[in-house]
Amino acid sequence: MIVTIDGPAGAGKSSIARQLAQRLDFNFLDTGAMYRAITLGAIRKQIDFADQATLITYAQTITIEWQENRIMLDGTDVSEEIRSPIVTDSIKYVAGINEIREVLSSQQRQIAENQNIVTEGRDQGTDVFPHATCKIFLTASPAERAKRRHKQLADIGRPIPIEQILETQNRRDAEDRERRHGALRPADDAVNINSDGLTLEEVVQIMLTTVQERIAQLQIHSTG
Ligand code: DC
Repeated sequence: MIVTIDGPAGAGKSSIARQLAQRLDFNFLDTGAMYRAITLGAIRKQIDFADQATLITYAQTITIEWQENRIMLDGTDVSEEIRSPIVTDSIKYVAGINEIREVLSSQQRQIAENQNIVTEGRDQGTDVFPHATCKIFLTASPAERAKRRHKQLADIGRPIPIEQILETQNRRDAEDRERRHGALRPADDAVNINSDGLTLEEVVQIMLTTVQERIAQLQIHSTG
């Protein structure tokens, strides 16, 4: 069974999806980490981001593995390096190329095959798993997302003005929504959850109920 969680950056998707997977005793897949790993690899190889052909060949030849919630690039754990700002700023070049999206989407489908899994990203319920059992679109208002990010950064000793965070966030939102392929949007049959004013635990509980209701619906249909 596949549960997809899509939504904009900073809505808390990753931590919430991990928690949900744990509670359901499902596997978890962070698809953003896969886009990040290719971007990191391309930076290390000094590939020109304007050179799409070389980027595509590179994406088709490297190995990206998702092992026990760690991301491996050609056999090396890059789970920390992929979070650096230079990677975040450069992902748009990689995520915008359809051939690269196809490589990753097909890998995501392979990972999910015959698994109970919660997958998290931008295009999971729309393009990658259109037949997923349960689709969730998790949002929060731009102000709330910026506030949370501000606190996260301040907590690790990197206080950044909230206006600056909001500006970067707006830019990433636009890039995610306006991408020609794999753009961020809720699937028609997704359940929308807005996490404004809710704690992580409250959102996880809402999602658990959503998944359970969906399973119950399917059981009624299969027996009725
Ligand atoms: O979830 P994240 O912030 O780690 O994702 C990083 C970027 O990767 C995001 O800005 C867009 C891209 N991405 C994507 O295009 N498709 C996905 N399924 C997941 C992420």
